[in-house]
Amino acid sequence: MGLMVQEFKKVGVVGLGTMGAGIAEVFARAGFDIVGVEIDQAALDRGRGHVDKSLSRAVEKGKLTEEERSEIDARFTFSASREDLADVDFVVEAVPERMDIKRDVFGDLDRICAPGTILATNTSSLSVTEIAALTDRPEKVVGLHFFNPAPVMKLAEVITTVSTTDETVDVVTEVAKRIGKTPITVGDRGGFVANALLVPYINDGIRLYERQIATREEIDESVKKAAGLPMGPLTLADLVGLDVCLAVMDVLWEEFHDPRYSASPLLRRMVAAGRLGRKTGQGFYKGKDDAPESRRTGRLAQMVREEETLDIGEMLIAAQIDDAMRMIGDGYASAKDVDTALRFGCGYPKGPTELLEDRGAESVITTLVSMGEYSLTTIAVPAPLLMDRLPDVEDSEGHGGCACHGGA
Ligand SMILES: NC(=O)c1ccc[n+]([C@@H]2O[C@H](COP(=O)([O-])OP(=O)(O)OC[C@H]3O[C@@H](n4cnc5c(N)ncnc54)[C@H](O)[C@@H]3O)[C@@H](O)[C@H]2O)c1
Repeated sequence: MGLMVQEFKKVGVVGLGTMGAGIAEVFARAGFDIVGVEIDQAALDRGRGHVDKSLSRAVEKGKLTEEERSEIDARFTFSASREDLADVDFVVEAVPERMDIKRDVFGDLDRICAPGTILATNTSSLSVTEIAALTDRPEKVVGLHFFNPAPVMKLAEVITTVSTTDETVDVVTEVAKRIGKTPITVGDRGGFVANALLVPYINDGIRLYERQIATREEIDESVKKAAGLPMGPLTLADLVGLDVCLAVMDVLWEEFHDPRYSASPLLRRMVAAGRLGRKTGQGFYKGKDDAPESRRTGRLAQMVREEETLDIGEMLIAAQIDDAMRMIGDGYASAKDVDTALRFGCGYPKGPTELLEDRGAESVITTLVSMGEYSLTTIAVPAPLLMDRLPDVEDSEGHGGCACHGGA
């Protein structure tokens, strides 16, 4: 038997970059002692700098008092040696997304940490199962996938493998709750829940753009309007990083070989050209004083604009709803999981099944079918679960006796 969560005191975080620094902060704020490990002293100083900056900002914003801040500071130990992880109760790994680096780190963690210590990886796109198999304790290895920025985004995806024991899953789910996150627990599958629903939608936005159906501003604005999203897919792509988007598309493609998951050629070219979005200063947008694009005048764009059943925002949302309904249909995630993932991991005011509820299955299916007619999607047939939501003829004639269609 391993430790119960209540007995956890010390948490190791390996890699204090964009994600690791935020993850360490989240644990420290929840009262855990942290051993933050980096590759060398220079990286350690940078990692400490990330944490300092974030905590200072919280103090400035009045979200943290000076006193709380010094308590949090006191919980941190920084080290350039993994050997200092010998007495931690739980580890989160957040080193770069490369299997050779993960192999090196997990080999060491397995040797250094006590046999009962649970090891979690923050990987977005590598196989958690493969990472678990690098150790002699695969039953104690899980994915614990945070979202950027880790101190802000509430979602934590707990990824289990065929080897993970129920006890391990229970403990990690409990840990996630204790640090104030909203966990969803799913199996090890390409993109997990949030990225598998978000990135193909971003890719769809890029496809509409590259096929000159609309300008980047029209695409972004129409989705914001359709679903109340904080930003549109092209702005989001720039923020997430085009390289990250491409990597997720390629993982999904490798996993499923479904044409829906083939990366947009433009996305691939932009990554090849080094236009990765905000981090390189240029993606779909160039920055603040980038003038809006003029309207696209392609023949297909005209046809689409004239088609009543086609609204850019609704198209992108309909395809995402379809993806979600397939995921639910496959039994990979529940309706609640998919809604939680997009609400708490991606800032959606409503999740896909709620967006479906608002629109009704008929409207979503009509959009998908029209998209097919203009070859704007590779979805040939709407998801069975979506079709199943159509009110059947019997019901609408009043013979079905179904309470949900009652009323007037
Ligand atoms: N950036 C995101 O939005 C995001 C979101 C969710 C998950 N992730 C995942 O989190 C992980 C880390 O991503 P990131 O964006 O924080 O990367 P990053 O490059 O910002 O940080 C990685 C850190 O690991 C350190 N490092 C490298 N080798 C190391 C080693 N052998 N031992 C200890 N530290 C080492 C680096 O010095 C760096 O500080 C990846 O698996 C990534 O897929 C990233």
